[in-house]
Amino acid sequence: MTRTTDKKLWGGRFSQSTAPLAELFNASVGFDQRLAEQDIRGSLAHVAMLGQVGILDSGEVEQISAGLHTVLADIRAGSFEWRLDREDVHMNIEATLRDRIGPVAGKLHTARSRNDQVAVDFRLFTKEAALDLAEKTRALRAVMLSEAEKHLSSDGGEAVILPGYTHLQVAQPILLSHWFMAYVAMLERDEGRFRDAATRMDESPLGSSALAGTPWPIDRHATAAALGFARPTANSLDGVGSRDFALEFLGACAILGAHLSRLSEELILYSTFEFGFLSMPDSHTTGSSIMPQKKNPDVAELARGKAGRVFGNLMGLLTVVKGTPLAYNKDLQEDKEGVFDSYDTVSMVLRLYTEMLPETVWHAEATRTAAARGYSTATDLADFLARAGVPFREAHEVVGGLVGLASRSERQLWELTDAEMSAAHPLLSARVAAELTVEASVAGRLSYGGTAPERVREQIAAAKGELDD
Ligand code: ARG
Repeated sequence: MTRTTDKKLWGGRFSQSTAPLAELFNASVGFDQRLAEQDIRGSLAHVAMLGQVGILDSGEVEQISAGLHTVLADIRAGSFEWRLDREDVHMNIEATLRDRIGPVAGKLHTARSRNDQVAVDFRLFTKEAALDLAEKTRALRAVMLSEAEKHLSSDGGEAVILPGYTHLQVAQPILLSHWFMAYVAMLERDEGRFRDAATRMDESPLGSSALAGTPWPIDRHATAAALGFARPTANSLDGVGSRDFALEFLGACAILGAHLSRLSEELILYSTFEFGFLSMPDSHTTGSSIMPQKKNPDVAELARGKAGRVFGNLMGLLTVVKGTPLAYNKDLQEDKEGVFDSYDTVSMVLRLYTEMLPETVWHAEATRTAAARGYSTATDLADFLARAGVPFREAHEVVGGLVGLASRSERQLWELTDAEMSAAHPLLSARVAAELTVEASVAGRLSYGGTAPERVREQIAAAKGELDD
C-alpha cells in the first residue's frame, strides 16, 4: 500500500492534516478493496441513472463510465495503486477516476453519500456470498446423499450398519445411510437459511444518500433494477444504518459451521484406532514428523475448530451493531472483515468435505460388530414383550435385569441360556434372544423417518427429488 498524501475528498472544512496514526486507524482500504467490483457496479448504475433523469448530460455519463471501466480493468489486472491516505475502496476509486478524467469525476458523487455507497456494495457482496454458500452447501448435500445411497447397497449387498449413540453410549443400531441422511437434512435447512437471507437482503439502499434521502430527482427503482435487486429499501435511515442482512448471513454461517463441526467430530472419533469405523483418505490427512505410524485428521480437526471463529464473527458484529444510534456510525466499518472471514472459512470447509467424503472408506465389519455390542438390541427385546401384552415399563424392567446379568458375566444378550431367559419372563427363550440381530432391529424400525431400509430409501428419494428441482 502506498503512503502518499493528497487533499482528502472531504477536506474542504479542514485546516490540519490527519495524524498518521489516525489515518492508519481510520483506513479500511486494506480489507474493503475486496468490494471494488461491487463499488464500480454501484457507481456505473448510479451514473447511468443520473444521466437518465437529466442530472448529468450524456457526455458526462460517457466520460465517467469509460473512466470507471479503465479503473476496473486495472483493479482486475492487479495494477491499481491502493493508497492508504485515500482511506477506503470508495475514495480510492473516485480519486483515481479524478486523476484520470479530471474534475468531471466529481459529478459521480452527486445525490450519493459513502453511507449508501458502502451499504449497496456490501449488500451486493453479501447476497452473492449467501447464494454461493447455498450452492456449495447443496454440493456437499449431493455428495452425502450419494454416500447414503452407496451404503444402502441397492446392488444386493448388505447395507452398512452403524451403532447409533445417545450420550456417546451405544443406543440402537442404525443404517450408515440413515446417519448420512441426518446430515443431508441439516444441510438442506442450511441451504434454505442462505437463500432466505439472500431474499430478505435483496433490496438496494442506493439513493438513501447520507441518511435522509436527497433533493435530487433520482430514480431509486432504476438503480435497484440495474443492480439486480428486487426493489429499493423503503426507508433511507434503515437503508444506510442497518446491518441485519450481514448478521443473518453470519448467523447462517454459524449454524452451518456448528453442523460441520459436529460432522468433523464424528469423523475424527470414528477414524481412531479404538473405533476403527472409517479411514480418511491420505489426501486429506497428514503425518507426524516424529511418530512414523501417525495419520492425523488435520483437515477434519481444523474444520471442527474453525467453527470458533465463525461463531466469533457473528458475536463480534452483533456487539458492534448493538447500541449504535441511527443511522450510520463509523463503527459499522467493522462489519466487513467478519463477513469476509466467515464466507471464506465456511466455503473452504464445504469444498474440503465435498472432496473428502466420497474418498472416505467405511469398514462395515467394524461398524456392524460395534453396533451389535453394548446391548443395542435391548429395546427390541422389551418391545417383543410389550407386543405380547406386557406393559412396556414392566418389559423394560425385565430386560434391564437380563442386561445386568449378561454384563456381570461379560456376555451378550444372545449368549444367555434358555433357563436364564425364561426365568426372567416366561415368554422369553434363547431362541427369542437369538433373533435379536442388528439387521432385524434396523428392519423393524419402520416408523416414518425411521432407520428401516424402506424408510431410508424414502428419505433418499425425497431428498433427490428436492435436489433435482
Ligand atoms: N469505509 C466506510 C465504511 O466501511 C465507508 C462509509 C464511510 N462513511 C462515512 N460517513 N465516514 O463504513
